[in-house]
Amino acid sequence: MGQGGTLDGLLDAEARASGPVGQALAEAFVCMAGAAKALSVLIATPPVGGRLGAKAGTANSDGDQQKKLDIVAEDLFSDSLRKAGIGAYLSEEVEEATVFHPAGLLAVAIDPLDGSSNIDVNAPIGTIFSILPMVAEAVADPASAFRQPGRKQLAAGFFIYGPQTSLVVTFGKGVHLLVLSPELNDFVLVESGITIPPDMPEYAINASNYRHWHEPVQTYIDDCVRGEEGPRGRNFNMRWIGSMVADAYRIFMRGGIFLYPGDKRPGYEQGRLRLMYEANPVAFLAEQAGGAATDGIDNILDRKPHSPHQRVPFVMGSADKVERVREYYLDLNPPTRDAPLFGRRGLLRG
Ligand code: AHG
Ligand code: MN
Ligand code: MN
Repeated sequence: MGQGGTLDGLLDAEARASGPVGQALAEAFVCMAGAAKALSVLIATPPVGGRLGAKAGTANSDGDQQKKLDIVAEDLFSDSLRKAGIGAYLSEEVEEATVFHPAGLLAVAIDPLDGSSNIDVNAPIGTIFSILPMVAEAVADPASAFRQPGRKQLAAGFFIYGPQTSLVVTFGKGVHLLVLSPELNDFVLVESGITIPPDMPEYAINASNYRHWHEPVQTYIDDCVRGEEGPRGRNFNMRWIGSMVADAYRIFMRGGIFLYPGDKRPGYEQGRLRLMYEANPVAFLAEQAGGAATDGIDNILDRKPHSPHQRVPFVMGSADKVERVREYYLDLNPPTRDAPLFGRRGLLRG
Protein backbone atom coordinates (compact mmCIF):
# COMPACT_ATOMS: atom_id res chain seq x y z
CA MET A 1 0.00 0.00 0.00
CA GLY A 2 1.41 3.36 -1.01
CA GLN A 3 1.56 6.74 0.66
CA GLY A 4 -1.71 8.58 0.95
CA GLY A 5 -3.71 5.47 1.75
CA THR A 6 -5.55 5.17 5.04
CA LEU A 7 -5.13 3.05 8.15
CA ASP A 8 -7.69 0.65 6.73
CA GLY A 9 -5.57 0.07 3.63
CA LEU A 10 -2.51 -0.55 5.80
CA LEU A 11 -4.49 -3.05 7.88
CA ASP A 12 -5.55 -4.85 4.68
CA ALA A 13 -1.92 -5.13 3.62
CA GLU A 14 -0.31 -5.91 6.98
CA ALA A 15 -2.92 -7.72 9.03
CA ARG A 16 -6.24 -8.88 7.56
CA ALA A 17 -4.67 -11.19 4.99
CA SER A 18 -2.90 -13.26 7.64
CA GLY A 19 -5.79 -15.28 9.07
CA PRO A 20 -7.79 -14.93 12.28
CA VAL A 21 -4.98 -13.34 14.31
CA GLY A 22 -4.46 -10.75 11.58
CA GLN A 23 -8.18 -10.02 11.53
CA ALA A 24 -8.19 -9.62 15.31
CA LEU A 25 -5.24 -7.24 14.98
CA ALA A 26 -7.07 -5.17 12.38
CA GLU A 27 -10.14 -4.98 14.63
CA ALA A 28 -8.00 -3.85 17.57
CA PHE A 29 -6.47 -1.09 15.46
CA VAL A 30 -9.79 0.12 14.12
CA CYS A 31 -11.11 0.37 17.69
CA MET A 32 -7.95 1.96 19.12
CA ALA A 33 -7.87 4.50 16.28
CA GLY A 34 -11.43 5.48 17.25
CA ALA A 35 -10.33 5.98 20.87
CA ALA A 36 -7.29 8.00 19.77
CA LYS A 37 -9.45 10.28 17.61
CA ALA A 38 -11.83 10.90 20.50
CA LEU A 39 -8.93 11.58 22.85
CA SER A 40 -7.24 13.98 20.43
CA VAL A 41 -10.49 15.96 20.09
CA LEU A 42 -10.79 16.13 23.86
CA ILE A 43 -7.19 17.31 24.25
CA ALA A 44 -7.73 20.05 21.65
CA THR A 45 -11.07 21.26 23.07
CA PRO A 46 -11.18 24.14 25.57
CA PRO A 47 -11.73 22.45 28.92
CA VAL A 48 -14.71 23.25 31.08
CA GLY A 49 -14.49 23.00 34.84
CA GLY A 50 -10.73 23.33 35.25
CA ARG A 51 -7.54 22.28 33.53
CA LEU A 52 -7.37 18.94 31.74
CA GLY A 53 -4.26 18.03 33.69
CA ALA A 54 -6.01 18.49 37.04
CA LYS A 55 -5.35 15.77 39.57
CA ALA A 56 -8.06 13.17 39.90
CA GLY A 57 -7.17 12.55 43.55
CA THR A 58 -6.39 8.87 42.90
CA ALA A 59 -3.21 6.86 42.28
CA ASN A 60 -2.40 4.35 39.52
CA SER A 61 -0.84 0.88 39.67
CA ASP A 62 2.56 2.41 40.34
CA GLY A 63 1.46 4.88 43.02
CA ASP A 64 1.66 7.84 40.58
CA GLN A 65 -1.01 10.52 41.06
CA GLN A 66 -3.60 10.12 38.30
CA LYS A 67 -4.74 13.11 36.25
CA LYS A 68 -8.33 13.37 35.04
CA LEU A 69 -7.10 12.79 31.51
CA ASP A 70 -5.29 9.58 32.55
CA ILE A 71 -8.66 8.20 33.62
CA VAL A 72 -10.50 9.43 30.53
CA ALA A 73 -7.81 7.87 28.31
CA GLU A 74 -7.99 4.62 30.26
CA ASP A 75 -11.77 4.44 29.82
CA LEU A 76 -11.60 5.22 26.10
CA PHE A 77 -8.94 2.63 25.31
CA SER A 78 -10.22 -0.13 27.59
CA ASP A 79 -13.75 0.26 26.16
CA SER A 80 -12.40 0.24 22.61
CA LEU A 81 -10.32 -2.90 23.17
CA ARG A 82 -13.17 -4.68 24.92
CA LYS A 83 -15.31 -3.92 21.86
CA ALA A 84 -12.52 -5.19 19.62
CA GLY A 85 -12.81 -8.59 21.32
CA ILE A 86 -9.27 -8.86 22.65
CA GLY A 87 -8.40 -11.64 25.08
CA ALA A 88 -6.37 -10.01 27.87
CA TYR A 89 -5.78 -6.40 28.90
CA LEU A 90 -3.10 -4.73 30.98
CA SER A 91 -2.94 -0.99 31.62
CA GLU A 92 -0.67 1.32 33.57
CA GLU A 93 -3.83 2.67 35.16
CA VAL A 94 -5.15 -0.67 36.44
CA GLU A 95 -3.52 -2.82 39.12
CA GLU A 96 -4.31 -6.25 37.71
CA ALA A 97 -4.31 -7.74 34.23
CA THR A 98 -7.85 -8.67 33.13
CA VAL A 99 -9.39 -11.14 30.72
CA PHE A 100 -11.89 -9.37 28.48
CA HIS A 101 -12.81 -12.33 26.24
CA PRO A 102 -11.50 -15.83 27.01
CA ALA A 103 -11.63 -16.77 23.31
CA GLY A 104 -9.90 -13.57 22.18
CA LEU A 105 -6.68 -13.98 20.23
CA LEU A 106 -4.72 -10.98 21.48
CA ALA A 107 -3.30 -9.59 24.71
CA VAL A 108 -2.81 -5.82 24.79
CA ALA A 109 -0.62 -3.88 27.25
CA ILE A 110 -1.15 -0.14 27.19
CA ASP A 111 -0.03 3.16 28.65
CA PRO A 112 -3.24 5.08 27.85
CA LEU A 113 -1.63 8.45 28.47
CA ASP A 114 2.13 8.86 28.38
CA GLY A 115 3.61 12.14 29.56
CA SER A 116 0.82 13.12 31.97
CA SER A 117 2.96 15.92 33.42
CA ASN A 118 2.91 17.59 29.98
CA ILE A 119 -0.90 17.82 29.69
CA ASP A 120 -1.16 21.36 31.02
CA VAL A 121 1.91 22.71 29.26
CA ASN A 122 0.48 21.91 25.82
CA ALA A 123 3.41 19.65 24.97
CA PRO A 124 2.94 16.35 23.11
CA ILE A 125 1.49 13.42 25.03
CA GLY A 126 0.60 9.98 23.74
CA THR A 127 -0.71 6.44 24.06
CA ILE A 128 1.71 3.49 23.84
CA PHE A 129 0.58 -0.08 23.16
CA SER A 130 2.04 -3.55 22.80
CA ILE A 131 0.10 -6.43 21.23
CA LEU A 132 1.00 -10.03 22.13
CA PRO A 133 -0.68 -13.32 21.26
CA MET A 134 -3.22 -14.50 23.85
CA VAL A 135 -2.14 -17.56 25.87
CA ALA A 136 -4.48 -20.31 27.10
CA GLU A 137 -3.27 -20.03 30.74
CA ALA A 138 -4.47 -16.42 30.86
CA VAL A 139 -8.07 -17.50 31.40
CA ALA A 140 -7.10 -18.79 34.85
CA ASP A 141 -4.16 -16.42 35.38
CA PRO A 142 -4.59 -13.17 33.36
CA ALA A 143 -1.07 -11.93 34.21
CA SER A 144 0.44 -14.92 32.40
CA ALA A 145 -0.44 -13.27 29.07
CA PHE A 146 2.04 -10.57 30.04
CA ARG A 147 4.92 -12.82 30.95
CA GLN A 148 5.96 -13.16 27.30
CA PRO A 149 9.13 -11.41 26.17
CA GLY A 150 8.84 -8.38 23.88
CA ARG A 151 10.23 -10.48 21.04
CA LYS A 152 6.78 -12.12 20.86
CA GLN A 153 4.96 -8.88 20.04
CA LEU A 154 2.71 -9.11 16.97
CA ALA A 155 2.43 -5.35 16.64
CA ALA A 156 3.28 -2.27 18.67
CA GLY A 157 3.17 1.46 18.39
CA PHE A 158 2.10 4.75 19.81
CA PHE A 159 -0.32 7.55 19.10
CA ILE A 160 1.10 11.01 19.71
CA TYR A 161 -1.15 14.01 20.35
CA GLY A 162 0.95 16.97 19.34
CA PRO A 163 0.66 19.63 16.64
CA GLN A 164 -0.41 16.61 14.62
CA THR A 165 -2.03 13.46 15.94
CA SER A 166 0.09 10.66 14.56
CA LEU A 167 0.41 6.90 14.78
CA VAL A 168 3.80 5.21 14.60
CA VAL A 169 3.30 1.48 14.19
CA THR A 170 4.95 -1.80 13.33
CA PHE A 171 3.51 -5.21 12.50
CA GLY A 172 7.04 -6.66 12.40
CA LYS A 173 7.78 -5.63 8.82
CA GLY A 174 9.09 -2.11 9.18
CA VAL A 175 7.72 1.04 10.76
CA HIS A 176 4.86 3.13 9.37
CA LEU A 177 3.89 6.72 10.12
CA LEU A 178 0.26 7.77 9.80
CA VAL A 179 -1.11 11.22 10.53
CA LEU A 180 -4.72 12.00 11.47
CA SER A 181 -6.33 14.14 8.80
CA PRO A 182 -8.96 16.38 10.45
CA GLU A 183 -10.60 16.76 7.04
CA LEU A 184 -10.99 13.02 6.42
CA ASN A 185 -11.26 12.16 10.13
CA ASP A 186 -8.97 9.26 9.31
CA PHE A 187 -5.33 8.29 9.72
CA VAL A 188 -3.43 8.77 6.45
CA LEU A 189 -0.26 6.82 5.67
CA VAL A 190 2.57 9.32 5.30
CA GLU A 191 5.62 7.08 5.24
CA SER A 192 6.56 3.40 5.43
CA GLY A 193 10.01 1.96 6.10
CA ILE A 194 10.97 4.61 8.63
CA THR A 195 14.59 4.24 9.71
CA ILE A 196 16.32 6.01 12.58
CA PRO A 197 18.97 8.25 11.01
CA PRO A 198 22.27 6.89 12.32
CA ASP A 199 24.42 9.94 12.67
CA MET A 200 22.62 12.47 14.85
CA PRO A 201 24.72 13.68 17.81
CA GLU A 202 21.75 14.33 20.09
CA TYR A 203 20.88 12.78 23.43
CA ALA A 204 17.81 12.83 25.69
CA ILE A 205 18.09 12.22 29.41
CA ASN A 206 16.72 13.89 32.54
CA ALA A 207 20.04 15.46 33.52
CA SER A 208 18.70 16.67 36.88
CA ASN A 209 19.29 13.08 38.01
CA TYR A 210 23.03 13.29 37.25
CA ARG A 211 24.12 12.82 40.85
CA HIS A 212 21.98 9.69 41.17
CA TRP A 213 23.32 7.95 38.05
CA HIS A 214 25.82 5.12 38.09
CA GLU A 215 29.28 5.84 36.76
CA PRO A 216 28.87 4.44 33.21
CA VAL A 217 25.97 6.83 32.53
CA GLN A 218 27.75 9.78 34.15
CA THR A 219 30.82 9.09 32.02
CA TYR A 220 28.82 8.64 28.82
CA ILE A 221 27.05 11.97 29.33
CA ASP A 222 30.25 13.71 30.51
CA ASP A 223 31.88 12.65 27.25
CA CYS A 224 28.96 14.02 25.21
CA VAL A 225 28.99 17.30 27.15
CA ARG A 226 32.71 17.75 26.54
CA GLY A 227 31.94 17.94 22.83
CA GLU A 228 34.78 18.62 20.44
CA GLU A 229 37.22 18.95 23.29
CA GLY A 230 36.36 15.54 24.74
CA PRO A 231 36.98 11.95 23.71
CA ARG A 232 34.04 11.89 21.28
CA GLY A 233 35.61 14.68 19.23
CA ARG A 234 32.26 16.25 18.24
CA ASN A 235 29.62 18.49 19.73
CA PHE A 236 26.34 17.05 21.01
CA ASN A 237 22.92 18.61 21.38
CA MET A 238 20.46 17.76 24.15
CA ARG A 239 16.66 17.49 24.02
CA TRP A 240 14.29 16.26 26.75
CA ILE A 241 10.55 16.64 26.36
CA GLY A 242 9.53 14.44 29.27
CA SER A 243 6.93 12.44 27.33
CA MET A 244 8.71 9.36 26.07
CA VAL A 245 6.42 9.25 23.04
CA ALA A 246 7.65 12.70 22.02
CA ASP A 247 11.32 11.97 22.67
CA ALA A 248 11.00 8.66 20.82
CA TYR A 249 9.14 10.29 17.92
CA ARG A 250 11.96 12.80 17.49
CA ILE A 251 14.47 9.95 17.43
CA PHE A 252 12.48 8.08 14.77
CA MET A 253 12.41 11.25 12.69
CA ARG A 254 15.96 12.56 13.09
CA GLY A 255 18.04 10.15 15.18
CA GLY A 256 19.82 10.35 18.50
CA ILE A 257 19.56 8.44 21.75
CA PHE A 258 17.16 8.34 24.73
CA LEU A 259 18.17 7.12 28.17
CA TYR A 260 16.19 6.51 31.34
CA PRO A 261 18.70 4.42 33.26
CA GLY A 262 18.38 2.81 36.65
CA ASP A 263 19.87 5.07 39.30
CA LYS A 264 20.65 5.20 43.01
CA ARG A 265 17.36 6.72 44.18
CA PRO A 266 15.22 4.33 46.18
CA GLY A 267 12.60 2.94 43.79
CA TYR A 268 14.62 3.88 40.69
CA GLU A 269 17.00 0.89 40.69
CA GLN A 270 15.26 -0.22 37.48
CA GLY A 271 14.70 3.28 36.15
CA ARG A 272 11.23 4.70 35.73
CA LEU A 273 9.75 3.24 32.56
CA ARG A 274 7.56 0.19 32.54
CA LEU A 275 8.63 -2.86 30.52
CA MET A 276 5.31 -4.11 29.19
CA TYR A 277 3.71 -0.91 27.89
CA GLU A 278 6.54 1.59 27.52
CA ALA A 279 9.89 -0.12 26.86
CA ASN A 280 8.78 -3.20 24.88
CA PRO A 281 6.66 -1.42 22.26
CA VAL A 282 9.21 1.35 21.69
CA ALA A 283 12.01 -1.25 21.57
CA PHE A 284 10.12 -3.23 18.90
CA LEU A 285 9.64 -0.04 16.86
CA ALA A 286 13.31 0.91 17.33
CA GLU A 287 14.55 -2.46 16.12
CA GLN A 288 12.18 -2.39 13.14
CA ALA A 289 13.55 1.06 12.29
CA GLY A 290 17.15 -0.20 12.23
CA GLY A 291 17.87 1.10 15.73
CA ALA A 292 18.21 -0.71 19.03
CA ALA A 293 16.94 -0.72 22.60
CA THR A 294 18.61 -2.19 25.67
CA ASP A 295 18.54 -1.98 29.45
CA GLY A 296 22.04 -0.51 29.06
CA ILE A 297 23.54 -3.90 28.26
CA ASP A 298 20.98 -6.48 27.11
CA ASN A 299 18.32 -6.29 24.42
CA ILE A 300 14.96 -5.24 25.92
CA LEU A 301 13.05 -7.61 23.64
CA ASP A 302 14.76 -10.69 25.13
CA ARG A 303 13.85 -9.86 28.72
CA LYS A 304 11.43 -12.34 30.30
CA PRO A 305 8.91 -10.30 32.33
CA HIS A 306 8.12 -11.33 35.89
CA SER A 307 5.40 -8.86 36.85
CA PRO A 308 2.94 -6.76 34.84
CA HIS A 309 4.08 -3.33 36.03
CA GLN A 310 7.81 -3.96 36.38
CA ARG A 311 10.19 -1.16 35.47
CA VAL A 312 13.25 -1.48 33.31
CA PRO A 313 16.29 0.72 32.60
CA PHE A 314 15.84 1.93 29.04
CA VAL A 315 18.28 3.04 26.36
CA MET A 316 16.99 3.38 22.79
CA GLY A 317 17.98 5.06 19.57
CA SER A 318 20.40 4.61 16.72
CA ALA A 319 22.14 1.25 16.97
CA ASP A 320 25.70 2.62 17.12
CA LYS A 321 24.86 4.94 20.03
CA VAL A 322 23.03 2.25 21.98
CA GLU A 323 26.02 -0.04 21.44
CA ARG A 324 28.37 2.66 22.69
CA VAL A 325 26.39 2.98 25.93
CA ARG A 326 26.75 -0.80 26.33
CA GLU A 327 30.50 -0.43 25.96
CA TYR A 328 30.52 2.14 28.74
CA TYR A 329 28.54 -0.22 30.97
CA LEU A 330 30.84 -3.13 30.21
CA ASP A 331 33.85 -0.84 30.35
CA LEU A 332 35.12 -2.15 27.03
CA ASN A 333 37.10 1.06 26.64
CA PRO A 334 38.62 1.14 30.12
CA PRO A 335 38.86 4.58 31.72
CA THR A 336 42.19 6.27 31.24
CA ARG A 337 41.97 8.48 34.25
CA ASP A 338 45.52 9.69 33.79
CA ALA A 339 45.08 10.70 30.18
CA PRO A 340 45.80 14.43 30.24
CA LEU A 341 43.30 15.33 27.56
CA PHE A 342 40.23 13.45 28.56
CA GLY A 343 40.51 12.58 32.23
CA ARG A 344 38.37 9.54 32.69
CA ARG A 345 38.38 8.05 29.20
CA GLY A 346 40.63 7.36 26.28
CA LEU A 347 40.00 8.70 22.81
CA LEU A 348 36.62 7.56 21.51
CA ARG A 349 35.30 9.06 18.31
CA GLY A 350 31.90 8.92 16.61
P1 AHG B 1 3.61 8.53 32.46
O1 AHG B 1 3.06 9.90 32.21
O2 AHG B 1 2.88 7.45 31.70
O3 AHG B 1 3.79 8.19 33.92
O4 AHG B 1 5.08 8.42 31.81
C1 AHG B 1 6.00 9.44 31.97
C2 AHG B 1 7.37 8.85 31.71
C3 AHG B 1 7.92 9.11 30.33
O5 AHG B 1 7.05 9.50 29.38
C4 AHG B 1 8.98 10.15 30.53
O6 AHG B 1 10.03 9.94 29.66
C5 AHG B 1 9.36 9.97 31.96
O7 AHG B 1 8.26 9.41 32.62
C6 AHG B 1 9.72 11.26 32.62
O8 AHG B 1 10.17 10.95 33.89
P2 AHG B 1 10.83 12.10 34.82
O9 AHG B 1 9.72 12.99 35.23
O10 AHG B 1 11.43 11.28 35.96
O11 AHG B 1 11.90 12.78 33.99
MN1 MN C 1 4.20 6.59 30.38
MN1 MN D 1 0.73 6.97 31.58
